[in-house]
Amino acid sequence: MKCTICKKPAIIKLRHANLQLCPEHLVARVEKVVAETIRKFKMFTPEERILVAVSGGKDSLALWEVLAKLGYRADGVYLDLGIGGYSARSREYSEEFARSRGLTLHVVPVRRELGAGIDELVKIARGKPCSLCGTVKRYLLNRVALEGGYDVLATGHNLDDEAATLLGNVLRWEEGYLARQYPVLPGEGKLVRRVKPLVFLSEREIAAYCIVSGIRYIYEECPHAAGARSIVLKHVLNELEDRYPGTKLQFLRGFLKVRDRFRPPEPVELHYCPSCGMPTTSEGPCRFCRLKERVAREALRVTGNDAAA
Ligand code: FES
Ligand code: ZN
Ligand code: ZN
Repeated sequence: MKCTICKKPAIIKLRHANLQLCPEHLVARVEKVVAETIRKFKMFTPEERILVAVSGGKDSLALWEVLAKLGYRADGVYLDLGIGGYSARSREYSEEFARSRGLTLHVVPVRRELGAGIDELVKIARGKPCSLCGTVKRYLLNRVALEGGYDVLATGHNLDDEAATLLGNVLRWEEGYLARQYPVLPGEGKLVRRVKPLVFLSEREIAAYCIVSGIRYIYEECPHAAGARSIVLKHVLNELEDRYPGTKLQFLRGFLKVRDRFRPPEPVELHYCPSCGMPTTSEGPCRFCRLKERVAREALRVTGNDAAA
């Protein structure tokens, strides 16, 4: 198999793009696609400060690498979620990456902010792990970006993630979610702008990019993700992609063209949480502060029981 561009040995075949690429041209393609996506969706300017949400996985580390190589001012933030050995290992990969590139990484232990890590929170609040974790992540990432004076928060969602989210939203005709699914979510007040510069790159391309760029990343999935609906949706899309190369890209591109037709949810009035001052859609404490309160109550109950024993 030869590189379509230079005829040297190719390491990857991208059927959806009709390309076979050698390491050098794979790197060039990934960086070009990211640069074009940033430009097309006016994600940020070279002067702005970017905070990359880093998980230790291939997508976020590849994103950080590309932004740094393109000359953007990008720091990273790693949320230590407190998910068994998975968190410890993913933190190591994130720290090693930052160290090797001389980049700044903020490490924020969720336990310090919330009083409990996700493993404990799941037992206390008895909700779906990914939904609880999502609330905690969204809140803390926004707060770290805001307090650090960053203009924009960048996440490593790739084509496979976006296509799966889109399929999930279409299957349930979630009009509000469809109207909000976009590579850029503008900031507002204390909500920092969010961007997804990898949405037009497949998981395979990103994994190959990491390998040829010498980026070591965590392969394992979060243990709480087992059985998640998103994994089933990705599997279905992979089957389709296998038969009809280009399905995911066409699905996402086509949607972005017609997205305006979906009615955005009625604008909700934003309130400010009396406890932490961050924006919330409900009156009273925000969801994060309510979870924090619950964790604190549980800790009191346990100490009370211990004292009584
Ligand atoms: Fe949040 Fe798995 S990463 S539940
Ligand atoms: Zn080549
Ligand atoms: Zn709050």
